[in-house]
Amino acid sequence: LSAVVRQVMKVFVTRRIPAEGLAVLAQAGDCSIQQWDSDEPIPQSELLQGVAGKDGLLCLLSDQIDKKVLDAAGQSLKVISTLSVGYDHLAIAEIKKREIRVGYTPDILTDATAELTVALLLATSRRLPESVEEVKKGGWTTWKPLWMCGYGLSGSTIGIIGLGRIGQAVAQRLKPFGIKKLLYTGRHSKPEIAVELKGEFVSLAKLAAESDFVIVTCSLTPDTQGICNRDFFCKMKKTAVFINTSRGAVVNQDDLYEALVNGHIAAAGLDVTTPEPLPTDNPLLSLKNCVILPHIGSATYATRNTMSVLAANNLLAGLKGESMPSELKL
Ligand code: NDP
Ligand code: DGY
Repeated sequence: LSAVVRQVMKVFVTRRIPAEGLAVLAQAGDCSIQQWDSDEPIPQSELLQGVAGKDGLLCLLSDQIDKKVLDAAGQSLKVISTLSVGYDHLAIAEIKKREIRVGYTPDILTDATAELTVALLLATSRRLPESVEEVKKGGWTTWKPLWMCGYGLSGSTIGIIGLGRIGQAVAQRLKPFGIKKLLYTGRHSKPEIAVELKGEFVSLAKLAAESDFVIVTCSLTPDTQGICNRDFFCKMKKTAVFINTSRGAVVNQDDLYEALVNGHIAAAGLDVTTPEPLPTDNPLLSLKNCVILPHIGSATYATRNTMSVLAANNLLAGLKGESMPSELKL
């Protein structure tokens, strides 16, 4: 009788993740799990040690998986599973060269992120954080006709940069507010989606010039890095509101600060910044017309649980050489 030797797959998890996801890995039976069991990011030295000799890596958007980390992992590394839909933190060319497979978490976080985008848009345009602050500090002296006025969605033109999964979900949610026009820009004109959403594919410049609300939902790539810069903000209406829930680096933050201070645009709402976390002395935080959230787009309990389960299943499937529930095409 020949003994069947089951190979144990070694995986490294770079952070404390929802119990549901960890349970999937634990129940797999043929996995030995090493984890940085903390809510705080793993120090670089621990990451380099942790990945060494592993078959699989479950990482977060805050982990830079670059050549150094891949070298430290060595030839054993077969799969990287990121607990995010964004993958700008992964050195894709290096990963591809090494024939490592990548799993990610599209679709399941689209609703939560679209909801947060709409919440941030309304909070920014109707000045909710500023209003709450005024109530707390005694600034609410009486009902004043000219006080705390903002901008409404009804009859407005919306401009979406990157009409992907999240961009489309945002557009669908904004339609019932009675918007007048939907503009969008991106790499592809997507005529079928344009018809469904009654949107118009335009250039970035036209979108900037005509939108009352600009919403950024594109992925971060070398092409989108810094596209929202001085030139872009100068083209925007002085009454327009700018919202970013994609990645901080799509925006030139110095230029955004200047645009907000000089009144080139009315207000900005950001769920993502450069760097993250944004240092508390960053000038943007001193502005009343800038609402900044700590990257909470997908932060509902249900979504984060589902993301962790998907990330775990992606990792396991990849390690077994099976097709992943959500594999990134490299
Ligand atoms: P998709 O891939 O579905 O959409 C990305 C969009 O980016 C596509 O529509 C694409 O346009 C567009 N894009 C790519 N290049 C350009 C360009 N040069 N100019 C304009 N648009 C461009 O991804 P998702 O909608 O699922 O996610 C989008 C991003 O949102 C993620 O990459 C992530 O960074 C971010 N995100 C943030 C969250 C948060 O917590 N704030 C939560 C989840 C995601 P085209 O279709 O024409 O190719
Ligand atoms: C992502 O998935 O890319 C978000 O930024 C966090 O959910």
